[in-house]
Amino acid sequence: MKILKTVSEVKEQVKLWRGEGLTIGLVPTMGWLHEGHLSLIKNARENNGRVVVSDFVNPLQFGPNEDFDNYPRDLDRDAGLCEKAGVDVIFAPSVEEMYPEGFCSYVDMNGLTGGLCGKSRPIHFRGVQTVVNKLFNIVTPDNAYFGEKDAQQLAVIKRMVLDLNMNVKIKGCPIIREEDGLAKSSRNSYLTPEERSLAPIINKAMTRGKEMIQGGERSSEKVIAAISEIILSVGITKIDYVSIVDSLSLEPVDTIERDILCACAVYMGNFARLIDNFSLEI
Ligand code: PAF
Repeated sequence: MKILKTVSEVKEQVKLWRGEGLTIGLVPTMGWLHEGHLSLIKNARENNGRVVVSDFVNPLQFGPNEDFDNYPRDLDRDAGLCEKAGVDVIFAPSVEEMYPEGFCSYVDMNGLTGGLCGKSRPIHFRGVQTVVNKLFNIVTPDNAYFGEKDAQQLAVIKRMVLDLNMNVKIKGCPIIREEDGLAKSSRNSYLTPEERSLAPIINKAMTRGKEMIQGGERSSEKVIAAISEIILSVGITKIDYVSIVDSLSLEPVDTIERDILCACAVYMGNFARLIDNFSLEI
């Protein structure tokens, strides 16, 4: 396994692989890998000739008061996990390599990004789209792998690829959870032991919401109120949102009568903002 730090090294490597007729799978990450990432890598490993993992904490997708500086970073640890998982190349560029002086081009979207996480993180998806676009141009993957935990991100990237006629297949992979139901996330490392013991309530509340809809409840308001109440019942005080939206347009729905995404984001402690979701076909 190679760790490459520059765009030109990756392009050179990709050219060699293409010469051998190999397909390429890309797993974009911000590092501090966990089993969620490893499931994406496994999927990429099984379905491509070569696998590239990008490991880059992207400053463009963090707002001014967010956790860019505190985001956990450990390339050696990530490299050990990637090596074991059969990754061929880690692309770990510096910020200057990705955004050299004078950088001023961005990829943005008019729909899909205004609600859910986009509401409290107004520049987030522009940053995600821009970096993912750059990674696609650098690695030219046949397939790129993203977790369904970031459901809005996955929808945005699929739309971007469709709208801009990009030559890559986007593969969404299921949420991987801890034994107690908490969705795996690099940000779980911010939790104190007490916060960690409360965090599984998020999944418990979402499961209750899912059961309500499966049991015939069609009022989004009632389901959202029930989920929020369960989360707040353990002493968590700050919910960013609990929303039920159309699974394609991501527009809020009042009456649940077509396929929906139910998503939430909850603040815990100083830095942690944990997200979770489920989709249902109605
Ligand atoms: O999901 C993430 O870790 C990031 O948003 C991504 C896709 C790697 C872009 O920085």
